[in-house]
Amino acid sequence: MRTQVGIVGAGPAGLMLSHLLHLEGIESVVLEDRSREYVENRVRAGVLEHGTVKLLEETGVGDRLAREALVHSGLELRFDGEGHRIDLSGLTGGKTITIYGQQEVVKDLIAARLRDGGDIRFEVSDVRLDGLTTDAPRIAYTHEGRTQELECDVIAGCDGYHGVCRDAIPAGVLTGFDRTYPFGWLGILAEAPPSSEELIYTYHDRGFALCSLRSPRLSRLYLQCRPDEDIDEWPDERIWEELRTRTATHDGFVLNEGPVIEKLVAALRSYVVEPMQYGRLLLAGDAAHIVPATVAKGLNLAVADVRVLAAALVQFFGSGKTDLLERYSETCLERVWRVQHFSWWMTTMLHRFDPDDRYQQRLQISQLRYVTSSTAAATTLAENYVGLPL
Ligand code: APR
Ligand code: PHB
Repeated sequence: MRTQVGIVGAGPAGLMLSHLLHLEGIESVVLEDRSREYVENRVRAGVLEHGTVKLLEETGVGDRLAREALVHSGLELRFDGEGHRIDLSGLTGGKTITIYGQQEVVKDLIAARLRDGGDIRFEVSDVRLDGLTTDAPRIAYTHEGRTQELECDVIAGCDGYHGVCRDAIPAGVLTGFDRTYPFGWLGILAEAPPSSEELIYTYHDRGFALCSLRSPRLSRLYLQCRPDEDIDEWPDERIWEELRTRTATHDGFVLNEGPVIEKLVAALRSYVVEPMQYGRLLLAGDAAHIVPATVAKGLNLAVADVRVLAAALVQFFGSGKTDLLERYSETCLERVWRVQHFSWWMTTMLHRFDPDDRYQQRLQISQLRYVTSSTAAATTLAENYVGLPL
């Protein structure tokens, strides 16, 4: 079998790429090792940058988002028992962020691809890449018990951090850059109305806490914890108690509570691989880079990559020119590193590191006071948070 672009992975990167290519008349096949149900229900972060929302709307996958998503024009930084609002819109010429779960974006993209006759193969296994330095790279895989081969012009490795595409590149070609943080997040989804209209990022002696939401009836809450935290040691009441302690304010903040319908522990880490391409294989999204969840940039960065990739492929298939494709990695990495820095900076400002490092704690408080009192510093936060132009 043949296609123009073989896409490995049906996460936001692979699906959005397939959708953008279809709009330009370019064929693709998406190979995904999980089931449709699994990828549609995999819970991840839920903040969309201004530019991500615009792209979803402009390409015809923003209808449900327009009806159901919640638009926010600010956020709160809380420390020393006091909240400070960052006016995201006021500081960025009117830009906003949108609360909409990543799995909702995935559902909308799958629906759009299938409606448009797209070819997504779920539950494939044994994906192997070959011929990456030829002009006809191939993907071998197993589907419904049979070994198949897909011959492509280009392969897009959109298979996430644990995928196989990055590893198909010979040793010595890639350089990896990483940072692991000495903590993780314990997250819950609770049937409780959000305690605040906007997101609250809290710095506290006992560690970071975040109050987020999914809808007017669903709260999403996170606590900094040990990276290897045992979730079984966290009955619901202990989680609520810790959240109440960390988010308490001098003026009596009330945390809304309700039944916990989901619980998870996630590690926080940063990773970038350079370059994001090898021959006819282009990596996009988590396959090439991950960011700590702190400011929810993963999906947004994946969408930014495939936007660059789609434009390069339009040029390649349209005119045979390869300059945009050759510059793909370089173009993407500029944004990738900006987002890496912003995610690292917010993580470092808001989390408790070594409890004995009182010097660092003073620095964190100083930085928080600066960001919440200087328009210049708040603007830096705001423009990165809503997302720099694509
Ligand atoms: N073969 C086929 N598919 C694979 C393979 C494989 N060997 N390995 C992984 N996959 C699939 C995964 O099951 C997943 O559906 O690739 C997809 C990768 O999707 P994501 O992990 O969602 O990555 P990406 O599309 O780059 O989106 C980035 O996702 O990880 C989150 O928080 C991150 O929001 C960010 C976003
Ligand atoms: C979420 O709602 O899952 C979320 C929101 C904001 C973040 C991280 C996660 O910074």
